[in-house]
Parts: sequence; C-alpha cells; structure tokens
Amino acid sequence: MRHFLTLLDISPGEARHILKRAGELKRQQKEGRPHRVLEGKTLGMIFDKASTRTRVSFEAGMFQLGGHALFLHSGTTQLGRGEPIEDSARVLSSMVDIITIRTYGHDIVQRFAEYSQVPVINALTDLTHPCQILADVFTYEELRGDIAGKTVAWIGDGNNMAHSWINGAVSFGYHLKIASPAGYEPDARLLAAARELGANVSLSHDPGDAAAGADLVTTDVWASMGQEEEQAIRAKAFAGFMVDEHIMACARPDALFMHCLPAHRGEEVAASVIDGPQSVVWQEAENRLHAQKALLEFLLRHQ
Ligand code: CP
Ligand code: NVA
Repeated sequence: MRHFLTLLDISPGEARHILKRAGELKRQQKEGRPHRVLEGKTLGMIFDKASTRTRVSFEAGMFQLGGHALFLHSGTTQLGRGEPIEDSARVLSSMVDIITIRTYGHDIVQRFAEYSQVPVINALTDLTHPCQILADVFTYEELRGDIAGKTVAWIGDGNNMAHSWINGAVSFGYHLKIASPAGYEPDARLLAAARELGANVSLSHDPGDAAAGADLVTTDVWASMGQEEEQAIRAKAFAGFMVDEHIMACARPDALFMHCLPAHRGEEVAASVIDGPQSVVWQEAENRLHAQKALLEFLLRHQ
C-alpha cells in the first residue's frame, strides 16, 4: 500500500506516469468519454482548514471516476472533539478506500497514515502541499514541454508550497531559485534532504536575482492558513517581494507565472501580473482536478 504524504513518496518515474495519465484523463473528460475506473470506491476527505480547489477537485474528480467522496470537516466529526487520530484512522480506513487530509502539523498525516489500512493523501499540511506541484508541473509541461533542466523561481515565503517545489526538484529535475526575506527561508532539514537526493536549489534574499532567466515564476501568500495573526508583521518583512512587472522583466520573455491560489493582489503579486498575459493560474487551478484523478487511480491500483 502506498501513501502520498510528500512528493518523495513516489519515484520520479511514478511522478511522470501520473502526469501522463493526467493528460489522458483530461482528454477523456474534455471529450465526454466515460472513465469510471474507480467505480464503487469511496474517498474520505478530512479538512481541518479551509479549501476551495482541493475539496472541489477531489470531490468532482472522484465522481467523474465513478466513485464517491465524503467531505469530513473536523468541526462536525469526532476528530474535532478530540478523538485520537490513531483511532480515527483505524475506523475511517475500515470503511473507505482512500483518504485525503488537510491539516496543520505534518505529523498528524504521518500518524494517520501509520494507522490507516488504505492510502492517505496529504491535501496540505503546514510543511508541504504535494498535490499542487503535480498540477503545476503538469500545467507547465502542457504549455512549454519538459520541465527538466528549466529554471523555476520561487519568490516569497519558505512555506509548504516552497517545500513542495523543493521536493519537486528531485522528482522533475528543474533548477529551483528561491528568494525569501531573511528569517522566512524554507526548512533547512527538508532542503538538505532534497539536495541529498539531487535537488538543484539555490537560496537568496533578492527576488530579481531569483527571477533572472527563469522559465517559470511562482509565489504564494505571505501568511498561510494558521498564520493570520502574523499578517501585519509579515507584510513588513516581505516588502519588495511582490511579484510585479519589474520582477517578471528579469525572467525570460516567455516565462509563465503561477500561483496556487487563493491570491492577494497587491501583496505577493501585482494584479497586472496575475491578470496579465504570462499568468496561467486558471489552467493551473483546473489541472488540480486532472492531476489528482491520476493520483487517486495510481494509489488505488498500487494496493
Ligand atoms: N491551492 C489550493 O490548495 O487551494 P484551496 O486552499 O482552495 O484548496
Ligand atoms: N501556503 C498556503 C497555501 C494555500 C493553498 C497556505 O498554507 O495557506
């Protein structure tokens, strides 16, 4: 049985297979061809944090694959009343075929997976957001071809998205240039582990430097879910890190702009960039659906 708690839980070859399958499933869906390969399967989706894209893409995706999805908000389950994660994992995994969890501590999904009889997918933790990178790389390659050897610039917080871009450098072989304000760099242990596995990642505090020559520029909010009270202090620390036309001008002329969304125009990204011609954020968001359908199929076939 396989879990997907980080991108490093699948091999680079498996990651490639999932993206290829995502392309096939996308075509089938666009052409109205049925692809009910998960008929009779149930996905349980536990959410401790808000979500639009992740919830809807998994729920709609499971339906399109012929299965069923259950939305389990922690506030309306016994999880929210303190039932141990280990007990919840044993019970839920005896009733459903696959489980997604969006929560705070990464240790929570790890503990859940340890006690689960079925595959567990990380739908975002404070540490990583691996499903998003599958969709982002899929989107890049739809538009520009193989991402291996290309340069991705991450401008902003060393957060869960930055960490997944770091792990993705192992899976997909791009060069990642990160620019974060001092004190907001990515997790040093996660970075060292990815470098051990061959990730090509450089760090700086200069957004223009990170964007120089990039094929893809990407960013995310300055205060993630759970950090709302730090918003004001972070807004100060991140001054100069908004991805605007000046930063995009440092990148290659054909560079794409991505953002996992939701975005704050006028903070981490200028409206002229996210709503401009280099932005592919709507295609990126839609591709969550196709990439995760391929992921669900992959994990359920490898049991
Ligand atoms: N990008 C992303 O995960 O969006 P949601 O928070 O809406 O799920
Ligand atoms: N870094 C953001 C990503 C949201 C999809 C957060 O964790 O809130």
